[in-house]
Amino acid sequence: MPMQTVRTRPIEGQKPGTSGLRKKTAVFRRPHYLENYVQSTFDGIGGVQGKTLVVGGDGRFFNDDAIQIILRMAAANGATRCIVGQGGILSTPAVSNLIRKRNADGGLILSASHNPGGPDADFGLKYNGPNGGPAPENVTDKIFARSKEIEIYKITASGGVDIDTLGTRSHQDMVVEIVDPVAEYAEMMQAIFDFDKIRGLFAGGFTMRFDAMHAVTGPYAHAILEGMLGAPKGTVVNGVPSPDFGGGHPDPNPIWAKDLMDAMYRPDAPDFGAASDGDGDRNMIVGQGAYVTPSDSLALLCAKAHLAPGYKQGLVGVARSMPTSRAVDRVAQRLGIACHETPTGWKFFGNLLDAGQVTLCGEESAGTGSDHVREKDGLWAVLLWLNILAEAKQSVADLMTDLWQTDGRCYYSRHDYEDVDSNKANAMMDALRGKLSTLGGSAVAGLTVEQADEFAYDDPIDGSRASGQGIRLMFSGGARAVFRLSGTGTQGATIRLYLEQLETASDKLQLQPEEALADVRQAAMTLSELSVMTGRVDPDVIT
Ligand code: G1P
Ligand code: ZN
Repeated sequence: MPMQTVRTRPIEGQKPGTSGLRKKTAVFRRPHYLENYVQSTFDGIGGVQGKTLVVGGDGRFFNDDAIQIILRMAAANGATRCIVGQGGILSTPAVSNLIRKRNADGGLILSASHNPGGPDADFGLKYNGPNGGPAPENVTDKIFARSKEIEIYKITASGGVDIDTLGTRSHQDMVVEIVDPVAEYAEMMQAIFDFDKIRGLFAGGFTMRFDAMHAVTGPYAHAILEGMLGAPKGTVVNGVPSPDFGGGHPDPNPIWAKDLMDAMYRPDAPDFGAASDGDGDRNMIVGQGAYVTPSDSLALLCAKAHLAPGYKQGLVGVARSMPTSRAVDRVAQRLGIACHETPTGWKFFGNLLDAGQVTLCGEESAGTGSDHVREKDGLWAVLLWLNILAEAKQSVADLMTDLWQTDGRCYYSRHDYEDVDSNKANAMMDALRGKLSTLGGSAVAGLTVEQADEFAYDDPIDGSRASGQGIRLMFSGGARAVFRLSGTGTQGATIRLYLEQLETASDKLQLQPEEALADVRQAAMTLSELSVMTGRVDPDVIT
């Protein structure tokens, strides 16, 4: 019997968060857990009968086994074709590109993004729709609802499919096409950027260090930076994906990409440093002795994107997630283009991109992207920077200083309190929520509250409303504090406190961020009573 219908029952409600469902790998490996989620996903999108799906992941532990299960379930559920990255490898933006280019009906991405990988670490699975972007909330709601009532799943009885050899083969009645993970992505990058110009930059002695963090962008970076663009061998470090990311945390920020930071702050630092995360959608940018916050990077890219051929017509508009600093707003205002403020999570950019209302978008959490795909795209951001550096002939530090002189500098920092008792975290948020209406006008730490509210978003395209998207405290003088609970953690609650302070005076553009943010931090801690409510004083991670 080639197909099996397996009786099951809900294990727990499987609720995809801002980027799919993330859990401990051990949870995903429990009997029927992955199968329930995949079947709930298929059911939630109206079945996969006759459909084409793209499947790939970041190579973390359990990637291969999970792909086998997905392929067997797709075949048993009547899918016509699955396009799979060779060896099960595809970065998140590469999946988005393949879905769009091949007119596929959707895709499944196996990753827990920047979370560590391994049997004792994290795993995740995300469904992206026919536009190549993360499933919107009305779809993830259906998947969640299905997972609470699931009774059966379908899977082929036969064993594995060869996903290591390029070419087309069949599994039962379904075609399985194994593609080179890099080729079509590299082709798209070549169409957007001036590769000759960037090649010239490297030929002229420009030096770079790209840290792939043992994750999925290794093969992409080797092929594009060292192969097509002629950067010297050794430019890409940690470029071979490993199931546990070399035991590290594939999160491109100054904490987890410390080796890169150290290299960029040494006297012999290369001209340009960059890193990407587990699944290749995030990026970190650092010049010689000059770390660029993701919010500032978005602003710089917005100001200079026209230097790359793909954006030479200028931008129609930009968007940022609410907690992202307002640096890009100032650039957009100067350029006379719209700037949209959306909730956290890439899926909220989808409608604006599809409607042609924005060209660039980004998040403070190291995600930057454009309308070329429907995901944030780590290497794309790095290539856009390279294209700008090649045209502008200025250092990273000088580009940033020029931008701050023109638009002011939004000092910015995110403080994460991890693994907080969920009840305490919720109680803190509830208490703060409860007093928002009374905060206007109150003065604390030398700052006066101008506005205090909880962010809600009305999607201008489909009219849907997303509420409860973070508590904002806006102060006079351009300071802001935002509180929200993470939707991607796998243990306890993570409280994120986002701090921002605008400075426009020319003698205040080169302060230490901690110094510039001291008052707003104190105001936020006082007003939220975070320490009293959670027992925490210092954050676990500052980025
Ligand atoms: C985090 C980031 C958010 C990003 C998401 C997925 O979500 O803050 O910007 O879209 O990861 O990469 P959070 O844990 O804050 O819910
Ligand atoms: Zn990611």
